[in-house]
Amino acid sequence: AAVVACASFGAHAADKQITLGFSQVGAESAWRTANTESVKSAAPAAGINLKFADAQQKQENQIKAIRSYIAQKVDVIAFSPVVESGWEPVLQEAKAAKIPVILTDRNIDVKDTSLYVTMIGSDFLEEGRRGGRWLEEHYKDNPGPINIVELQGTVGSAPANDRHAGLVEIIQKDPKFKIIASQSGDFTLAGGKQVMEAFAKTYAGKYNVVYAHNDDMALGAIQAMEEAGVHPGKDVQVVSFDATHGGFQAMVDGKINVDVECSPLLGPQLMQAVKDVVAGKELPRRIKTEETVFVQADAAKIMPTRKY
Ligand code: AHR
Repeated sequence: AAVVACASFGAHAADKQITLGFSQVGAESAWRTANTESVKSAAPAAGINLKFADAQQKQENQIKAIRSYIAQKVDVIAFSPVVESGWEPVLQEAKAAKIPVILTDRNIDVKDTSLYVTMIGSDFLEEGRRGGRWLEEHYKDNPGPINIVELQGTVGSAPANDRHAGLVEIIQKDPKFKIIASQSGDFTLAGGKQVMEAFAKTYAGKYNVVYAHNDDMALGAIQAMEEAGVHPGKDVQVVSFDATHGGFQAMVDGKINVDVECSPLLGPQLMQAVKDVVAGKELPRRIKTEETVFVQADAAKIMPTRKY
């Protein structure tokens, strides 16, 4: 793996406490709440002074928070970028101030990759492929057509872009699969419910699969389908992402068929990376989270071991 030397970020006295400025996306989902708790508990455990800001799912708030961390001369800035594009100017400012930047959870789209040291988090494209492969296997003896309605995450975010692209990459090999509708529910339960209410009316009796980009939207969609007299998990196959407690409970209840894991427990890895970058150590450009896929049949047995 490619590595970067971090010595260019300037000296830091070994005995001085490290200050980390962290800009969080928001509080849109159960996943996010668990991620925030992980970061907030890992910082004191690592002896790191954490400054934390919630951007309420707005990029402008994240940019403001990053500028404020630059002004406060924190040692390291970390953030989970709400969307992929539009980060160059503020990250150039951090670079000019010699403050290293670490990405967690979501990736960004920048030409100059020296603008951040490393990216810690899931491989969302692979997650999307995993959802697609489950559909491929589930419907292998079914001639189709298999119509999919998709509840996308936040428009322009890495998990929404990649979970969509991963699905398309797999299902495009077989013309029986068709995405008949796709709309953003912004990763929230209320958003998922609202979009699904409209889909349930417009496509009544015409969709076989709900592909929801996270558990919160899947749970909202389940409510909407039940209100429309549809049995999620039986009449319609529900594919979801994250594998939170709520998602697991819905699998135990027979309403989500498969949940592709996405771990929010990134705090300890982030704190280690912060210490390493301050110490001038080399870091891999990409630190991937280990994840798997959970199916309904195993959910009751596995649920007690789940941590978020
Ligand atoms: O970036 C990770 C995604 O953001 C999670 O899948 C979703 O639940 C969260 O809001």
